[in-house]
Amino acid sequence: MTMPRLRTVVLVAGAAVLAKRAMRRRITAAPLWPMPALDEPVSGRGRLATVTRRVLVTGRTEPAEGVIQLRLEGTGLPAWQPGAHVDLVLPSGLVRQYSLCGDPADTDTYTVATRLIEREQGGRGGSREVHEQLHEGTEIEIRGPRNRFPLVDAPAYVFVAGGIGITPVLPMLRAAEAAGADWRLLYCGRSRATMPYLDGIGKLAGDRASVVTEDESGLPELGFLAELPADTAVYCCGPDGLMDAVTAAMPEGRTPHLERFSPAAPAGGGAFEVELRRSGRTVTVAADESVLAAVRAEVPGVSYSCEQGFCGTCQQRVLEGEIDHRDELLTDAERGDSMLICVSRCAGERLVLDL
Ligand code: FES
Repeated sequence: MTMPRLRTVVLVAGAAVLAKRAMRRRITAAPLWPMPALDEPVSGRGRLATVTRRVLVTGRTEPAEGVIQLRLEGTGLPAWQPGAHVDLVLPSGLVRQYSLCGDPADTDTYTVATRLIEREQGGRGGSREVHEQLHEGTEIEIRGPRNRFPLVDAPAYVFVAGGIGITPVLPMLRAAEAAGADWRLLYCGRSRATMPYLDGIGKLAGDRASVVTEDESGLPELGFLAELPADTAVYCCGPDGLMDAVTAAMPEGRTPHLERFSPAAPAGGGAFEVELRRSGRTVTVAADESVLAAVRAEVPGVSYSCEQGFCGTCQQRVLEGEIDHRDELLTDAERGDSMLICVSRCAGERLVLDL
């Protein structure tokens, strides 16, 4: 199994202790705290935009090499829970998701952090735009928060974070600590200089955190995951290779809680055709390709942004064909005749888009 850009070895101190821990509380599907208030829904297609709020960047720091932390101030910001993220609507119109990593009790301020990705997928430079254009005094729009990575109630947790993947995990650590749960953190990175929040984590976690860096160690040792008691919840956020490795290391029949921010994998199902009725063209969507990618080859100006089924920018009206919806944004009513072409696919062999 590959582990791109992450050659860390981390042995979680105390993993053996975790493995022997008797069940004290049962894992449930319920979140540990009440779910956050979501944006007020707006009916019809306008819902895709969701409610936007203007916030002011009132703080900008660099908690690690290549990472900036932004403090965003607004009034009456919705409550959130660990694992939540907000959409930042960047000056260019790009929409990018960032985990909230500050204090959930602070409803006037959100804190996010982002790493500059030199070679971003798709080449549109969302992280570069954040780094270059968001400074103290910049006003921007946000949407959300939303939480697709909630912390479930459990007596014990193992958190595995890779690099900037520490951001959704940070409030989880504080919440687990406040709840009196037993927890361990496995924090991986290329080098200490590139890993944000190490000092704070050290103070909070003590010897419950294991930090091993690529420049000091080898491949991660994840074998301990197979021995975890059934009531230990495992959370992972980081590079795809790390999340794949954590998933593979779990006991049979168990899955970790994962947070992915890279574009959703389009694979799944076979190839199919998409007719662009107004353009008079037909494209073939390969099994490992998104409808958006195939359409862009013919219609380069087609709108899109997040490429993850979050923002709704790529929504297209469907004239014919059966849709395989893979987003979590559209309502059933909206799904009747439209789809988000960055993630959704065809349930049959052919779709016709009003494009
Ligand atoms: Fe954002 Fe498709 S581009 S939902």
